[in-house]
Amino acid sequence: LPATAEVRDGHLFIGGVDMVQLARTQGTALYVFDEADLRGRMEAYRDEFAKRYPNSDIIYASKAFLNKEVLRLANAEGLCLDVSGGGELACAQAVGFPTARVFMHGNNKTPQELEEAMSAGVGRIVLDSRLELARVSEIAQRLGIVQDVYMRITPGVEADTHEYIRTGCEDSKFGFTMREDFAYKCVADVLAAPGVRLVGLHCHIGSQIFALHSFREAAAVMVDFMARIRDGYGVTLGELDLGGGLGIAYTADHEPSSIADFAEVTTAAVKDFCGQHGLPLPRLLVEPGRSLVANAGVTLYTVGILKTLPGIRKYVAVDGGMSDNIRTALYHAEYEPVIANKADQPRTEIVTLCGKHCESGDAVVIDGSLQPAELGDIVCVFGTGAYNMTMASNYNGQPRPAVVFVKDGQARVVTRRETYADLYARDL
Ligand code: LLP
Repeated sequence: LPATAEVRDGHLFIGGVDMVQLARTQGTALYVFDEADLRGRMEAYRDEFAKRYPNSDIIYASKAFLNKEVLRLANAEGLCLDVSGGGELACAQAVGFPTARVFMHGNNKTPQELEEAMSAGVGRIVLDSRLELARVSEIAQRLGIVQDVYMRITPGVEADTHEYIRTGCEDSKFGFTMREDFAYKCVADVLAAPGVRLVGLHCHIGSQIFALHSFREAAAVMVDFMARIRDGYGVTLGELDLGGGLGIAYTADHEPSSIADFAEVTTAAVKDFCGQHGLPLPRLLVEPGRSLVANAGVTLYTVGILKTLPGIRKYVAVDGGMSDNIRTALYHAEYEPVIANKADQPRTEIVTLCGKHCESGDAVVIDGSLQPAELGDIVCVFGTGAYNMTMASNYNGQPRPAVVFVKDGQARVVTRRETYADLYARDL
């Protein structure tokens, strides 16, 4: 739940704003974010790390939720920024996010994206392959700069999560593999390449991870690799980025670890392993996306159609679906819905909350419990703040929802709803 969620007279309020009224004035489907919750999590990440490990930084993985306002918040809270391409970088530039605090990722950044990033002065390029090293080196020399880089390593940790979002295992399109000592040999190439300076290592083992020991295992592999680089090449790297991936509660059955637990495990691991290898403590970075924004966001819908198939199931159809939330269809994601105008009533029915799109896989919640639904009810689906808006589409000509931030009883639209004209504005 968003931090400020509460029930008043049967209505769900977030940030002191009545979700039922907000849905009626702004229209649905609507993404709503609890600004106090967003800021609270940014501060929790920053402070939980800083107090255990002063030389640390939090990098917001903007792929989770991106618009200008969330980047203004991240900047105000002193976070760094992970962009996975030129499009995300453009948003950062549009709000004046300091490019020195931007990290560029991606397994196939185009030469154009690399050049845009390097001309803009991004702080770190995270090298993902040997071919990319050659490109970055060539561009740096042409621009007459020295670019700070990390190497992304696949540490061979099998995180326990959906296979589509598992990234640290050996068979991965990401990063330099440790197989046959490939990554180690490539360090020599990076160190020798003109125009680039190797300042650290990066890994990201996956997303929506509950088992914190996976992060400890990754840290062990990475610190061990730093020690080998010191011993073999005589170079002590000063930075270690352990990626994102902390899991969150989508339903009441999920028991995720807290930000404090994540900070404790990762900082303790880095201290332990550096101690064992006699390495100085590097600057430590983590790159959370989901755990910063998912629980701060909800989606509001209006119930438009009810259909009961006797002996099979009851469908509650809402005015959105896979266009604003592809996660259920793609990953069998689970969510908790509530009827915002009946928030004080028990959820006595099991229903499938389906969307309005032209396929059977279009569901937001399959067999979820809900208050008895009636036409015109406002449904609120929790935990939709990460990877919903950024993965939204215009399928079936659906304009993408507006984004509203709520705080202290005030609602402000930070991204307006798409219009029909927007949908075809690019057509010649
Ligand atoms: N760093 C890198 C290099 C990443 O690729 C990602 C996520 C993150 C950080 C942030 O991970 P997080 O803290 O959000 O777990 N669309 C999927 C999630 C894909 C994650 C992609 N990379 C979903 O909806 O579950």
